[in-house]
Amino acid sequence: MSAGSNDGSGDGSGERRRRRSGPVTKGGDARAAKQFHTKVKTARGRKYSSKLWLERQLNDPYVARAKQDGYRSRAAYKLIELDEKFHLIKPGMRVADLGAAPGGWTQVCLRRGASHVAGVDLLEMEDVPGAILLTLDFTEPGADETLKEALGGQADLVVSDLAPWTTGHKATDHLRIVALVEAGAHFALDVLKPGGAFVAKVFQGGATGELLDLLKARFEKVRHYKPPASRQESAETFLIAQGFRPADPDHGGD
Ligand SMILES: C[S@@+](CC[C@H](N)C(=O)[O-])C[C@H]1O[C@@H](n2cnc3c(N)ncnc32)[C@H](O)[C@@H]1O
Repeated sequence: MSAGSNDGSGDGSGERRRRRSGPVTKGGDARAAKQFHTKVKTARGRKYSSKLWLERQLNDPYVARAKQDGYRSRAAYKLIELDEKFHLIKPGMRVADLGAAPGGWTQVCLRRGASHVAGVDLLEMEDVPGAILLTLDFTEPGADETLKEALGGQADLVVSDLAPWTTGHKATDHLRIVALVEAGAHFALDVLKPGGAFVAKVFQGGATGELLDLLKARFEKVRHYKPPASRQESAETFLIAQGFRPADPDHGGD
């Protein structure tokens, strides 16, 4: 499965169900997983890799939890855990969600009180009530302006879970990953309010030294963190930049 795949488990229950508080508990999940571990038989026509993926989905406590809580993706818990650690989302916030499909992070932002969420993805998404969701290639010229219009003002928070569909060709994939992280970061520098925050998924080698230097110059704090919901075997981690400082207009902008 490629990095850009949605590890979702949507059951279409959308916003109907209420949020449960607290992260998934490790001990309880391990016990439950041991008790109920589901094995998938290799059926005719099902590749071994698909069997492993299905088995992992069926036995993943975050997938079960997403279904129970009405989140469209297990990825929702990555943002929940990031928010619990770094206190990113506050009531009334204006948020841009890059790489939003199928909508898990958008749901988290709204449930945690954001009043305005504008999201973008290559893939079409089912509506999330309260959000504006655009189907666009974020790297295409003009996409940033369209998203800015949908945002309707400066953002308090820009979150990016953008992940490219991988080709298997290492050098190409690396370039795509870097391009997405950079596009997200430059958008954040353009739209954030003073004091705002930027959160982005990065992969090993995904944030270049140059980009990190730029972020460190423009945010009070820049940290990396891999939340428990991010699979150990995944090369992804998250960059959290808080305390945005707009460029001094006398010394050139972005
Ligand atoms: C891991 S998924 C996002 C999951 C989402 N945060 C959630 O919780 O439901 C990554 C998304 O990035 C999107 N993506 C990749 N490249 C993109 C691009 N150039 N423009 C817009 N979206 C892109 C993919 O289509 C994919 O849906």
